[in-house]
Amino acid sequence: MKVLVIGGGGREHALVWKIAQSPRVSVIFCAPGNAGIESLARCVPIAADDIAGLKAFALSEHIDLTVVGPEGALALGIADEFRRAKLRIFGPTRGAAQIEASKSFAKDLMVRARIPTAASRTFEVLDQALAYLERHPLPVVVKADGLAQGKGVVVAATREQASEAVTDMLGKQSFGAAGRRVVIEEFLDGEEVTIMAFTDGKAVVPMVAAQDHKRVGDGDTGLNTGGMGAYAPAPVATPALRSEVVQCVLRPAVEALLQVGSPFYGVLYAGLMIVRGRPYVLEFNARFGDPETQVVLPLLKTDLVDVMEAVVEHRLDQLDVEWHDRAAVCVVLTSAGYPGSYDTGRPIKGLVDLSSAPSDDTLVFHAGTKHDGNEVVTAGGRVLGVTGVGPRWTEARERAYKAVRAISFDGCHFRTDIASRALRSGV
Ligand code: AMP
Ligand code: GLY
Repeated sequence: MKVLVIGGGGREHALVWKIAQSPRVSVIFCAPGNAGIESLARCVPIAADDIAGLKAFALSEHIDLTVVGPEGALALGIADEFRRAKLRIFGPTRGAAQIEASKSFAKDLMVRARIPTAASRTFEVLDQALAYLERHPLPVVVKADGLAQGKGVVVAATREQASEAVTDMLGKQSFGAAGRRVVIEEFLDGEEVTIMAFTDGKAVVPMVAAQDHKRVGDGDTGLNTGGMGAYAPAPVATPALRSEVVQCVLRPAVEALLQVGSPFYGVLYAGLMIVRGRPYVLEFNARFGDPETQVVLPLLKTDLVDVMEAVVEHRLDQLDVEWHDRAAVCVVLTSAGYPGSYDTGRPIKGLVDLSSAPSDDTLVFHAGTKHDGNEVVTAGGRVLGVTGVGPRWTEARERAYKAVRAISFDGCHFRTDIASRALRSGV
């Protein structure tokens, strides 16, 4: 079987690594890929949002299954295009991907399906949004409606911050089309957890729960990032909570999308806040999370290609998806300055090739890397994700940090407290 993976970050390296373990796969292509993915797949220089180029490539190479990593391609309708061309693709249609691409669409759907979420209102007119903010209790959360690479959410402690955020979005159009509409919602105080699920539009199979670390600095300080690390299975997600999330969040969302004529095929990601033991949805994503995928896939026992085919062929209810009873911790290494501006092109030392890794318990997933002559150099803000797997949190974390300390590049930054909350849980 020939598989094409779209994207070039840590999530896609983890996908390629897991897909490569399937005995049914003969060749993997990745567009555009990165320096780490190159050791497992043939990287082709087609951008992840070049839908026409990707479709032409998939047709000419007779690709049996295409797997979409990033949200941009999904929101542009890559799944619709591929299906029209009779190409099998793992990922939702443009209509279904709106659950991520439009926060107001997601909010309306949640209200209709009675899915627990923060109370909110949507605005397109600046004066109306500002007037509404005057009476809203603090803190208050302001969100750009569209895709903004994690930068479109402001948790405002003061009315001035909130007004500035809506003025940026609706008045100054700093977020372009993504900020033409804003969602203003109540602040929820609790612990965050991610539960992703495979779904074929009807059956819902949850993955192990994960927690990511969004702030750049130790102790959850500093700016928000795309994710500085993650761990799974998150102890906060007890079996009871997981089944509540399936019953009250994931199933109703999948049913509501089916009802509006946009069945969801792929991975539905629920970003949740647990408030006094109950889950509330902060956001839905229409794809695998990054870095959550780098801790979730190493715990998946079942062949990922079998799962993806069951989704594409709408027979997920017939598959038994199994997980390893182990712990995984991923530490992200970033360029100095990230999430602000940063340099690239710094040589990376101490890398171990995944295809010849000494053990399955330490995995180095590349995010922003590329080859420069014989060297691997930095090529992005998030450079690497180093995952340790073990029977318990202590071993998983030790393995991750041991490998992190063996890797170096100029300006390398990482958090030293990834998974400390899991460690404190004592499991
Ligand atoms: P989102 O992209 O909607 O998940 O928001 C990004 C981050 O903002 C979340 O991971 C939370 O840390 C925070 N956040 C979003 N919505 C809320 C809310 N209603 N209450 C508190 N924090 C929130
Ligand atoms: N880790 C958050 C995301 O993938 O959107």
